Amino acid sequence: MEIRVIQGSITEVPSDALIVNLFEGVTAPGGATGAVDRALEGLIGELIESGEVKGNLNEVTLIHTHAEIGPKRVLVIGLGKAEEFDLFGVRKVAGTAVRSLRKKGVREATSIVHGAGIGGLAIEDAARALVQGSIVGSYQPDQYKTSDKDSAAVEKLTIVERDGDKIPAIQAGAGTGAVVANAINDARTLGNEPSNNMTPSILAERAREVANRFGLEIEVLDEARMRDLGMNALLSVAQGSAQPPRLIVLKYKSPGANRTIGFVGKGLTFDSGGISIKAHEGMEYMKFDMCGGAAVIQALRAVAELKPRINVLGLVPASENMPGSAAYKPGDVIKCLSGKTVEIITTDAEGRMMLADAITYAKRLGAQSLVDVATLTGSCVIALGNDYTGVMGSDRELLRALQESASSAGEKVWEFPLPPEYKDQLKSEIADLKNVGTKYGGAITGGLFLREFAEDTPWVHMDIAGTAYAEKEEPYRAAGATGVGVGTLASLAMRLAE
Ligand code: BES
Ligand code: ZN
Ligand code: ZN
Repeated sequence: MEIRVIQGSITEVPSDALIVNLFEGVTAPGGATGAVDRALEGLIGELIESGEVKGNLNEVTLIHTHAEIGPKRVLVIGLGKAEEFDLFGVRKVAGTAVRSLRKKGVREATSIVHGAGIGGLAIEDAARALVQGSIVGSYQPDQYKTSDKDSAAVEKLTIVERDGDKIPAIQAGAGTGAVVANAINDARTLGNEPSNNMTPSILAERAREVANRFGLEIEVLDEARMRDLGMNALLSVAQGSAQPPRLIVLKYKSPGANRTIGFVGKGLTFDSGGISIKAHEGMEYMKFDMCGGAAVIQALRAVAELKPRINVLGLVPASENMPGSAAYKPGDVIKCLSGKTVEIITTDAEGRMMLADAITYAKRLGAQSLVDVATLTGSCVIALGNDYTGVMGSDRELLRALQESASSAGEKVWEFPLPPEYKDQLKSEIADLKNVGTKYGGAITGGLFLREFAEDTPWVHMDIAGTAYAEKEEPYRAAGATGVGVGTLASLAMRLAE
């Protein structure tokens, strides 16, 4: 989607559709919507009076203007209650607006910045959210459809602002919004690929393309290299599959930066559960088990474009988890790269095994703090549902920075505790650790397991099992991979920059 910002009058700038908004309960539209209402001789006011337009969140009303004003159509998007409206709301309504215009075949639209007027949001933040919501909303994964292909899309969005003083802030917000949103959509494309077209080697090739295009360093470790290094945890997960594993290492280096943060993303291209095989219902969703890896690859790409003064490492352990004849088995004891030994209780807790070795390796490569992103536990989905990512960590400062980054990026996170006494659940009779605890507090024991490998390096874990993909389409976005994590990680790198 092409984004432009211009100074002008919204009623005059020609377009296929102009997007304006209305808060719930407003009887006389003000601001930009008021100007459009006056130009249309009170038509919006009449629709409000008749009860047809209420301003409920995500309510869509499309009005044809019969060439009375510049835009051919006016789309009034409901913003809901003014006191509840925030940047999450801006993203949602922007997505809803472009998705409903797409269905009407509109290819080009003008918009005001929602929420910056009576909504009281900072104009730069609101513009960033508007652009992000619009680009994310316009994404439609239909590359595998040969019929019923819905190829229409809003290809061009022009933000129109009357006040010239506000233009630089809108441009700045729109610029970062577009960078992050395009990275999010590319992460979604990686996530949506079925596992027959998204093996560990293919994921590594895609990462290589990203690295070449955006100027990142890349190194891809193959099985032989992993064996030399002693990455037995990662290798064990992979050994039941015909597909060889990869460890993708991306590097963003900022001249003069002294600090290095490491992002580690679970890149499990298909999780059958292995010998501890999963039930068949919903197993197709396990192609999304590499969404943490996709988020890390695309976060590094956004970082390469935004150029913060900090070094960023991106590590993606990539593997399939399959029950082949060479598969690792319950009861096996594995010596991880760190030297710690783990007794396998279930082969379905494979993500933490791969992450254990990747976290150890990230520290060896010089990461001074770490964030991992992983579709790690069903328990997290039970606890938080599909809107909140579970976060936990060993360092308050890093946790706070991550929470603030998530909120400015439009991702919802909720913290779990990491009580040391729960570590008893991971005690093994034969090895240093078991790879699972009891059925209680599974998201937390997953986090505690990873902490054993992060050791004293400040570390935060994001469990995106519930947020990585949407089973159903929503008014503001398509079904499938969501690209969660990209925005938070990119924003964190910016926040931690020197
Ligand atoms: N990939 C799954 C977690 C998952 C569940 C992701 C639902 C997305 C949606 C992970 O590898 C897994 O199987 N976890 C186990 C852990 C358990 C054995 C401790 C789980 O959640 O059941
Ligand atoms: Zn998994
Ligand atoms: Zn699993």
